[in-house]
Amino acid sequence: MAELQEVQITEEKPLLPGQTPEAAKEAELAARILLDQGQTHSVETPYGSVTFTVYGTPKPKRPAILTYHDVGLNYKSCFQPLFQFGDMQEIIQNFVRVHVDAPGMEEGAPVFPLGYQYPSLDQLADMIPCILQYLNFSTVIGVGVGAGAYILSRYALNHPDTVEGLVLINIDPNAKGWMDWAAHKLTGLTSSVSEMILGHLFSQEELSRNSELIQKYRNIITHAPNLENIELYWNSYNNRRDLNFERGGDITLKCPVMLVVGDQAPHEDAVGDQLWGIKNLIPASYLLQVECNSKLDPTQTSFLKMADSGGQPQLTQPGKLTEAFKYFLQGMGYMASSCMTRLSRSRTASLTSAASIDGNRSRSRTLSQSSESGTLPSGPPGHTMEVSC
Ligand code: BEZ
Repeated sequence: MAELQEVQITEEKPLLPGQTPEAAKEAELAARILLDQGQTHSVETPYGSVTFTVYGTPKPKRPAILTYHDVGLNYKSCFQPLFQFGDMQEIIQNFVRVHVDAPGMEEGAPVFPLGYQYPSLDQLADMIPCILQYLNFSTVIGVGVGAGAYILSRYALNHPDTVEGLVLINIDPNAKGWMDWAAHKLTGLTSSVSEMILGHLFSQEELSRNSELIQKYRNIITHAPNLENIELYWNSYNNRRDLNFERGGDITLKCPVMLVVGDQAPHEDAVGDQLWGIKNLIPASYLLQVECNSKLDPTQTSFLKMADSGGQPQLTQPGKLTEAFKYFLQGMGYMASSCMTRLSRSRTASLTSAASIDGNRSRSRTLSQSSESGTLPSGPPGHTMEVSC
């Protein structure tokens, strides 16, 4: 594939009457600094208002990166460690970023009045067109975690022409089954909402290890002034319907997808499995992603199993995720291979392939195979690849 050239297109802006070129430059610089710090907006939608924060300036002919966070978090607590990670800067400088906060999750959000009907996950997905229309953005690359990954998938199913790619971290595309519900109800008898949400975000192992990161997020969630709102988002998540992906059928994601799962990711099924005395040798979350992977177009889907990573790889492994994201964008033709740092080239050499669950390696393609010389995989992102890193 021919190497892509980064072309900086600068817009000629007319001077205002009486404005010197120096003053115009200073004003532009001030505006740029402001935009790089994030501008928060709200738009009205048929399902209530939604808040989002925009970083960077729109780049001609490039999609925006649009993120959607998981339950219990907001865009900052979910994505700041990833988007402020050092190596991430060379990626995001090429894209405008739109970080959506689910209603009532934005900083300082007032608690919804009693009886407020919180939108379903499908309705949250239906709010996204209002955001894009407001910003006049035509296409996006979505990055979602947990509930956010579900919402972005639903949006992509409904508006395939506007989604150029999706990074789905620890997605559960299925509605809760009766076993999940039984387990959920039982857990609810003895646990608080914040504990249940922590159990959704992090594995039991992570929670009992109680690292500084866990202490921080436990503190954020248990003391959240909008905990009632968080519970409403949690309820919507638990009432989600099946995404019903079908390989080769009408209901499938048409864009390149990178499915990411932490090798220690939590999953509510684990509770059900314990209830029924089944010892889990393979984490339920991993099987879920394998199932999800099997239902998506193999020529468009990459499957990344991340080692030493629990429920929130974007918090615990931002370096690995940054690197995978860079390859994903390269595969889509958005990052010239010359943009790769020496760091990522050397790390690439150490990525190892993992046998797929059925032991069939031939279907799988690994990052290390496709990037031996530090160049991007040839052609579009096709080929299911399973990478353990
Ligand atoms: C960003 O640059 O996109 C970003 C900055 C702070 C928090 C989250 C995202």
